[in-house]
Amino acid sequence: MKKPRYTPLQISIHIFGWYPLAWLVVRGLTDNLTANPIQAISQWTGYHAILFLTLSLACTPLNTLFGWRELLKRRRALGLYAFMYASLHMLSFVGLDYGFSLKFFTEGTATKPYMLMGITTFLILLPLAITSFKWWMKRMGSGWKTLHKLVYMAGITAVIHFAWAKKGDLAGLSGDIVKPLIFAILVALLLILRLPPVRRWASQLKQKTVSILKPKPV
Ligand code: HEM
Repeated sequence: MKKPRYTPLQISIHIFGWYPLAWLVVRGLTDNLTANPIQAISQWTGYHAILFLTLSLACTPLNTLFGWRELLKRRRALGLYAFMYASLHMLSFVGLDYGFSLKFFTEGTATKPYMLMGITTFLILLPLAITSFKWWMKRMGSGWKTLHKLVYMAGITAVIHFAWAKKGDLAGLSGDIVKPLIFAILVALLLILRLPPVRRWASQLKQKTVSILKPKPV
């Protein structure tokens, strides 16, 4: 039988990837973007940028833990959706808030550390998105892997940006920090699972579990 062109996971990722944008467009066209539409757009796109970024970070550890190899092929799509929402998020400030005036934008952001953290995250994601295609992977050789390790740095800076944007204090556990804290814990766990000794331990645990669950021949 001919193999289906797209897997169920692939289809789900693309539906989930476009849904937030479609939701935003429908809400915008029907005048349903709250009393402060610019803030609604920036919060919605920022939230989905960090969500897709975290999901892309989860692919490798989930493969290590559960042997779900297809996830490794889906990292790029998830990362690109993260970049798409990060770009829309950034454009919502540069365009809607600052009327595309780079002068006002730089003046407005220079004194706000949380904005600088957002820009840093975006500047990390930019080369990762550009070089995410096979052509770059071949051209860059081993440098590609080194560059793409920066995605973890983006995870960390994105969480800090999220917490600061919410006026929360992650270290002091004060302010509006429930959602940023959930992302901080997730990103920390995903980072820990990438450490070589933890990774080895996780794959040994997986092998043991598989051998226990495997039916023994009678
Ligand atoms: C040029 C880059 C960026 C700028 C200038 C920027 C700026 C901002 C600002 C001003 C807010 C506060 C919005 C509000 O509450 O009105 C915000 C919120 C947020 N940003 Fe960014 N940001 C940038 C990049 C990013 C990136 C790359 C990510 C994630 C990958 C991100 C994730 C978030 C999140 C999750 C929020 C909180 C949304 C919420 O309130 O639920 N931002 N950002």
